[in-house]
Order: sequence, then structure tokens, then C-alpha cells
Amino acid sequence: MKKEKVVVSIGGSVLIPGENDPAYIKKLAETIKDASGAVQLVVVCGGGRIARYYTETGRSIGGSTYQLDIMGIGVTRINAQLLAVSLGKLSSTDIPETAEEASRRSTPDNIVVMGGTEPGHTTDAVAAMVAKEMGAGRIVNATSVEAVYSDDPKKNPAAERYSDITIDKLGELVYKEHGAGNSSVFDPLGIKIAKENKIDILMVDGRDLEELKNAILGSRIKGTYVNSQ
Ligand code: UTP
Repeated sequence: MKKEKVVVSIGGSVLIPGENDPAYIKKLAETIKDASGAVQLVVVCGGGRIARYYTETGRSIGGSTYQLDIMGIGVTRINAQLLAVSLGKLSSTDIPETAEEASRRSTPDNIVVMGGTEPGHTTDAVAAMVAKEMGAGRIVNATSVEAVYSDDPKKNPAAERYSDITIDKLGELVYKEHGAGNSSVFDPLGIKIAKENKIDILMVDGRDLEELKNAILGSRIKGTYVNSQ
């Protein structure tokens, strides 16, 4: 059976919530395994709180951006190993170090898990690079935010929640957000690659495992569907 190809970008804080982690990671792995019966999956793991610890501590003792990025990549790869352990024989703890390697090792019957690749971007951009490389039609961005809003809903109660937007609109929102110096909903380089290669992005709350499964399978989601076609 020919399977659709999907890349999941999973935020580090979704992968490791910091509370009942073993039970949660097992449930997350079960969800991913279930979904992989229907689609060919590559999962890119973020660094979360642990990466932030290293980058913040490293910065305050004089680390360069390059050095901080290298530490961040190290954490994303260890996080990837943790998920791979939980996925058992469907996956490997020998983590690919490039998008090309991930694509080469992906088959309809395995789940390739990886972290970052090189300094200068985040794992969202890695997910877009892998999707491009393997010809995936969509990226599922699983974070702790349940949808894309026109503004920060915590600060602005009038912020509009989007269920469908174009990739250009997402680009505008990220640009606006960057201007304010906030962390991004999706890496701008990832948006550029997704746009150029017509890869859709599904922005979902990854802690809601039903929602995550629906996004991976291409079913209806509660989050935001970013259309790149
Ligand atoms: P993340 O992808 O988790 O970054 O990688 P983030 O900024 O925390 O992303 P969100 O907010 O979850 O989307 C952690 C850090 O590792 C480095 C970067 O410094 C990044 O901030 N990194 C990661 C790289 O330099 N290259 C990569 O390919 C991936």
C-alpha cells in the first residue's frame, strides 16, 4: 500500500511536559505508532525547557550564538532518542543528522525520529527540509498552542482565532511577531520552504493526542490549517 508522507514537528515541551513524563511519553508514542499504520512518518523533536536551560546558561557565561545552537541541537537529539526508545522496534535511536539522511532512511514501515541538524534555525525548519526532501504533503506542528491567533490571546482578548489561513498570512503573522521580539509560531525559514514546495502546515495542540492523531491522518482538526497550495 502506498502511504501518504507526513512530517511531525513536535515541540520539546509537548514531548516532555515535566509532569508524569514516562506515562505521557508512552501514550504519545502509542498515538504516533497508531497513526503510522496509515501514513509514512518522520518526527522531528524540539528542545523545550532543557534546551532553553543550556542556551540561557550558556549565554550568561559568554557562549556565542553558534555554541548555543550546537548545545540546542544536542538536546533536540537526546529528546529524539527518548521518543525513539518509546517507539520501540518501529524506530531507531541512531538519530539522523541531516534532512537527506532522514529522508533516505524513511520507509512506509518505520518511523524516523530526529532532532536538529545545523546551527541557524529551529527544528520547525528541519521539519520543512525533511518534508521537501521526502515529498511530504503536510507538516504537523505539534506545540502547546492550540491554534494560530491574530495576536496574543492572553494579552488581547479580541485576538481572532484562525481555523484556515494561507501560508502568506502565516508569514505576515510571524513577521509581525518577530518585530515584537517574541518567539515564533513557526520558523520563518520553515515557512519559506513550505511555501516554495507547496507543503501545508497543521498547527495543533500536541498535548491533545486525539487532535494530534487527526492532524497526522489528515482528518478535521480544531487547530489551524495553513494552506500552501
Ligand atoms: P527548537 O527547535 O526546540 O527551538 O531547538 P525553539 O526556538 O525552542 O523552537 P520552538 O519554540 O519549540 O518552535 C532548540 C534550539 O536548538 C538550536 C537553536 O538554538 C534552537 O533554538 N537548533 C535546533 C539549531 O541551531 N539547529 C537546528 O536544526 C535545530
